[in-house]
Amino acid sequence: MSTAKKSIKKVTTHRLQEMKDQGEKISMLTAYDYSMAKIIDEAGIDIILVGDSASNVMAGHETTLPITLDQMIYHAQSVVRAVERAFVVVDLPFGSYQGDSKKALRSAIQIMKESGAHGVKLEGGSEVIDSVKRILSAGIPVMGHLGLTPQSIYKFGTYTVRAKEEMEASKLLKDAKLLDEVGCFGIVLEKIPSKLTKQVINLVKCPIIGIGAGEHADGQVLVIHDLLGITKEFNPRFLRRYLSLFEEIKTAVEKYIDDVKTGDFPNEFEQY
Ligand code: KIV
Repeated sequence: MSTAKKSIKKVTTHRLQEMKDQGEKISMLTAYDYSMAKIIDEAGIDIILVGDSASNVMAGHETTLPITLDQMIYHAQSVVRAVERAFVVVDLPFGSYQGDSKKALRSAIQIMKESGAHGVKLEGGSEVIDSVKRILSAGIPVMGHLGLTPQSIYKFGTYTVRAKEEMEASKLLKDAKLLDEVGCFGIVLEKIPSKLTKQVINLVKCPIIGIGAGEHADGQVLVIHDLLGITKEFNPRFLRRYLSLFEEIKTAVEKYIDDVKTGDFPNEFEQY
């Protein structure tokens, strides 16, 4: 019997574009640690996003603003260690790229060098285009993020659907075109009307990944903790939950506590 390791075809930006062009939908999920990344990579996910949502789901902050570059790199290193197939993208955290394209490039290079990830994602359009271009000029793949951009939550004031009004929708279309033209390998559209996503799709060449952006997107992304039902208070319309892990884990832990307290665990087979 052969002991040769099965060769795994890695997902690349080229492959992602090919998937879009051939009409194959792209799957993307967040991960922030080794164990979860290993599971979702083995399951066959195309893109793993080391999202700054780690600030919420891993660290318990109310917003994504507090997470630092070093903390993002720590999460990214853990994910990269686990991944054999997926394309790993890391969010540039708040304050690491806005208003200073040289700083943006330094942040992106630090992520790539210290984590071994394959690309970075940042939020915004024309306001950050100098940063996007400078990072791209260093050969680092960049993914855009438009619509609801959580790093701007204090500007928006709410997490409701974005770009319902004509002016915001038209800016989003211009920003998507700009990001596509300068060479982003993909754009995340978050919480916008489905018909606006369709307009973006008709305007750009690169893959569009939606979260709450409807059926027309070339792919979908969710936060893994939401999909698994580990976060239970977050219930937007766009979220499909596949498990209720908060309750399932809690029940298992309650059972364990009970087994320890009653002396049922460990039994005679669970000791040396
Ligand atoms: O940080 C994150 O998880 C994200 C996704 C919601 C797209 O940016």
